Amino acid sequence: MQRRHFFLGALGSTALVRPAFSQSSSSPLGVGVIGVGNRGSYDMQAAMAQPEVKITALCDIKPDRLDKAASGAAAHKPATFKDYRELLQRKDVDAVVIATPCDLHVEMSLAALKAGKHVYCEKPAGVEPASIQRLVNAVRASDRVYLIGQQTRSVTRVRRTIAKIREGVIGEVIMVKAQRHASADLPHDSSSNDWFFVARRSGDVIVEMSVHNLDVCNWVIDSRPDRAAGFGGALLWKNDPPGRTNMDGYTLSYEYANGVKLSYTQVFFHPNGMPGNGQTNYVYGTKGGVNLDTSTAYSFERGVKPVVLAEPEKDPPHAHMAAFLECIRTGKKPFADITVAATAALTAIMGRDSIYRKQVVTWDSMGVKI
Ligand SMILES: NC(=O)c1ccc[n+]([C@@H]2O[C@H](COP(=O)([O-])OP(=O)(O)OC[C@H]3O[C@@H](n4cnc5c(N)ncnc54)[C@H](O)[C@@H]3O)[C@@H](O)[C@H]2O)c1
Repeated sequence: MQRRHFFLGALGSTALVRPAFSQSSSSPLGVGVIGVGNRGSYDMQAAMAQPEVKITALCDIKPDRLDKAASGAAAHKPATFKDYRELLQRKDVDAVVIATPCDLHVEMSLAALKAGKHVYCEKPAGVEPASIQRLVNAVRASDRVYLIGQQTRSVTRVRRTIAKIREGVIGEVIMVKAQRHASADLPHDSSSNDWFFVARRSGDVIVEMSVHNLDVCNWVIDSRPDRAAGFGGALLWKNDPPGRTNMDGYTLSYEYANGVKLSYTQVFFHPNGMPGNGQTNYVYGTKGGVNLDTSTAYSFERGVKPVVLAEPEKDPPHAHMAAFLECIRTGKKPFADITVAATAALTAIMGRDSIYRKQVVTWDSMGVKI
């Protein structure tokens, strides 16, 4: 494993052009949304906010959600479907957004690519290694854009900060401490409970949520883990809601292929007011450290003042969706491509499985070639 630039492609490859799927920027792009619940509705609005986009089709198995989304996009007069395969047959759908429960992402992405559609898939890429391999193979064999909804990749401040870390501002990165803490569980009476608390469907909270945070760890560490070991479970919200199979707290250690160590925790019971809540990402190097959340670098040297590596940028609204559409129109390669998507999902999966099995799980044991 090369120490440097494992994810160079993900960091700075927008100049790469694949004109095979370029399309004229003057024609409206037809977008279909599959799964118009909480996130799908947001993504639909994000697409509608972009120039030269027409929402041509919507799909959901829940009629109330489909109706609500169709009203939200009424100006575009989208066709509506219960079966996503019918949506994929439409010639006026150039690109799809997939925002269904996590266990459906691979199946729907594969079908969309096969139908010749560009794919914006909500995270995670998938919840099991074997299906992620099928997805990687299909995306690599396709000339369509595949972009994963890991939107931190489109935050300019984070990208600039990581570029400075790559330049050596804190020496070599040796360790990262990251977390995703919340003061309460997700609502127990939500209409998404049919999948959210079911680990087989969600991939469990680490794959469903922490995939974002672990992706940032992979990005800043510039590698992927070799092994993971952790402990956790349903510690507070036991069988609550009834039948719950998701965890509510865990602690994990990862060792990366380039030797960097990662300590990661996620809990849903961090009391309000107690310090240390929220999402954090501390990066430790041989010369100092960086708080990635504020882009502030701290030196080991006494008397050296902390330095802000990158000021918050005013990214365009819905920058990640805009990046997807730009890639379709210009042939640029997405920041959040299949390598980023598969690596993040597999990082979460190996952590999850080490907790489930109470064993060290290695990257190689997952058997996926990215
Ligand atoms: N990028 C982010 O920050 C972010 C934020 C929230 C959710 N998400 C992701 O978005 C996805 C959806 O999450 P959500 O919170 O919107 O859940 P949700 O339950 O609100 O929405 C999912 C929708 O998919 C529909 N659906 C289920 N099976 C379907 C099928 N076979 N065909 C068509 N529609 C189907 C459901 O009826 C529901 O309306 C998840 O993968 C989640 O991880 C991403």
